[in-house]
Amino acid sequence: MEPQSPVHSAEQIAALDAADPLASFRERFVLPHGVTYLDGNSLGALPRGTAERVREVLESEWGTGLIRSWNDADWINAPQRVGAKIARLIDAGPHEVVVADSTSVNLHKLIVAALSARPDRHTVVSEPGNFPTDLYMVETALATLGGGRRLVLSPRDEIVNRITDDTALVLLTHVHYKTADVHDMAAVTAAAHAKGALVLWDLSHSAGAVPVALGACRADLAVGCGYKFLNGGPGAPAFLYVAERHHDTLVSPLGGWMGHARPFAFEDHYQPSPGITRFLCGTPPIVAVAALECGVDLHLEADMQAVADKSRALADLFIHLVQRRCADHGVTLVGPAPGAPRGSHVSFRHPEGYAIMQALIDRGVIGDFRAPDIMRFGLTPLYLRYADVAHAVDVLEEVLRTDAWRAPVYQTRHAVT
Ligand SMILES: Cc1ncc(COP(=O)(O)O)c(C=O)c1O
Repeated sequence: MEPQSPVHSAEQIAALDAADPLASFRERFVLPHGVTYLDGNSLGALPRGTAERVREVLESEWGTGLIRSWNDADWINAPQRVGAKIARLIDAGPHEVVVADSTSVNLHKLIVAALSARPDRHTVVSEPGNFPTDLYMVETALATLGGGRRLVLSPRDEIVNRITDDTALVLLTHVHYKTADVHDMAAVTAAAHAKGALVLWDLSHSAGAVPVALGACRADLAVGCGYKFLNGGPGAPAFLYVAERHHDTLVSPLGGWMGHARPFAFEDHYQPSPGITRFLCGTPPIVAVAALECGVDLHLEADMQAVADKSRALADLFIHLVQRRCADHGVTLVGPAPGAPRGSHVSFRHPEGYAIMQALIDRGVIGDFRAPDIMRFGLTPLYLRYADVAHAVDVLEEVLRTDAWRAPVYQTRHAVT
């Protein structure tokens, strides 16, 4: 714990909110009264425009247009259209991103495509503690492909040295889902390329939260969630990125008809579409893609540098206040210190983190818990105020000081934490 954190008075915090260039975005979201929502890194809040747009898709495009809407409402190009919008948030070209499937399924497609493009190489490099689905998708892809391939898990500070001439793919999550540590995308990508390996970045906690420079880093591949900082809704479709230089050589292992060069020719044999479209598989979930598009459109109205600056400022304020107010209660910061590069969530460790989080949620401060002992707080610049962060720390301090978390009701583990 840092002993000398700056003091923030209520007036200073009000001044930060008054000077916030993103303040007007808050009213564009549905935020329940009495709730301080610190979980936008898990499920983003509902943009106000989404319900109306989804109603239009349901009642007009589906209800009235029926199947004609595949052409008349351009449903057929929705995955590419929304992909091109997401591309602007992650420094990709408009034809390098497509919306499809879940992040896990997109990982499968790109892992297998990458390994098939490097058939003489045997290793995939990742790190222990990467998001579980990333590691599971590698393990299951390797089990399917066989050929003596294996997963190498390296501590993050040794990763660049573990990439060898036998490495086919490096798979990393740019912003760590628990700690908010950030990988140096440019350095890791360059190290992988120096050895002839491809790199696949999981941007689930990056897209819409921190600056991402896929193009500038010459990244090969990427995936990411639509339901976190992009505010696409529960189970929103994910996105995937393939650098244009790989479009002709990488092939999806899931050769569904929507990725075929001529889906409506109904041919007997698979021929991948040119470009990013080959990474589609089945029929796109149009209602869900429409909801995601609302979240992405809202983001595109915001200045990404302002988002990044506010994310950092919210995190620094939160850390300083928790360290000043809660240090005596066994709460320890996990991940980057104030001022260091970080993602847009802050995590603290406490042996009773689960019960403490339940007590917070009961008091309207919603974060989440990641086993075994991490309380995670998402700080979403588009709809959080500095005053919300201060309020959350007030409630946390009260829960800790009064031992409110000891109530039996907070000990019961729910299926989703
Ligand atoms: C880093 C990361 N990757 C992947 C996923 C899972 O994505 P999906 O549920 O779309 O497969 C998550 C979910 O939280 C995540 O945090």
